[in-house]
Amino acid sequence: MASQISRKVEYSRLVENEEGREVSEPVSKPVSFLQRPAYSLHLIIIGLALVLTSGAGFFAGVLWTQNALNINNYSSSTAPKIPLPYTQTEFVYSSPFSLAPPQGEGSGDESEPIWDDLVPNGLGYFRDGKIAPKVSIPTTFHQLHCLYILRRAYYSTRSDSQLESFDLGKNRTIHAAHCFDYLKQTITCSVDSTVEPYEDDDNTDGFLGSGFLRQCRSFDALKQYVEKWRVFNATGFLAAGIAHGKAHVHGSEGQ
Ligand SMILES: *[C@@H]1O[C@H](CO)[C@@H](O)[C@H](O)[C@H]1NC(C)=O
Ligand SMILES: *[C@@H]1O[C@H](CO)[C@@H](O)[C@H](O)[C@H]1NC(C)=O
Ligand SMILES: *[C@@H]1O[C@H](CO)[C@@H](O)[C@H](O)[C@H]1NC(C)=O
Repeated sequence: MASQISRKVEYSRLVENEEGREVSEPVSKPVSFLQRPAYSLHLIIIGLALVLTSGAGFFAGVLWTQNALNINNYSSSTAPKIPLPYTQTEFVYSSPFSLAPPQGEGSGDESEPIWDDLVPNGLGYFRDGKIAPKVSIPTTFHQLHCLYILRRAYYSTRSDSQLESFDLGKNRTIHAAHCFDYLKQTITCSVDSTVEPYEDDDNTDGFLGSGFLRQCRSFDALKQYVEKWRVFNATGFLAAGIAHGKAHVHGSEGQ
């Protein structure tokens, strides 16, 4: 997994630059043809044709490269991304993730297997010495953690309790406010521009978004990568295997 990922890091930009350079090189040679008056007219025409075609190729190469850079516009001043393979996925309407969490006395300590299975051992905190020399977490796992916190807070019937077991003892009011803010910012940063067809389908009660293939990035590949480079052992959203509150000490503050 690690070697697959680092190979992809090197691959993307180099190939594009090399192609752009190859295409632009022939431009200088036909120019030297034109500078010699001894050559006959048909050679000049061939030369001009070469200039025009290689020029067109050059501009096509420049446009293609710029277009590719628009899609992958990372710079040294922005946080790196872990390259991931693309997958095809179809959303389903009303998946098991739409079920309510356990409620009532002691429910904050009850785990939920399908949700916990989203979280790698180590909760997504990793350090690999390359893309992440310091302890880091991919946005996806921070997002999922926030989604889980908001969901449990929404369903919680215990209005008296600000400090919830499911949230590692954190102040729910403060943490939920952070999650709404954080999820808004990550949604408008990652910008999933999938075009969702509108179908007036009775089966979905007017909810859009399911029933067609989407281009997704491999969640499983990311999960495996951060689990391999994890900085501690802990599983599930309740961080089984680690003392409450400790899971976030090395990560992002206040999470
Ligand atoms: C790339 O990102 C920088 C920084 O956000 C931005 O200023 C620039 O316009 C972007 N370039 C393209 C081609 O999108
Ligand atoms: C949690 O934070 C809110 C907002 O700052 C505050 O009003 C509340 O008293 C806090 N609850 C606890 C138990 O600390
Ligand atoms: C996780 O636990 C296993 C088994 O006890 C141990 O070999 C490994 O070093 C631990 N990993 C971390 C990052 O603590």
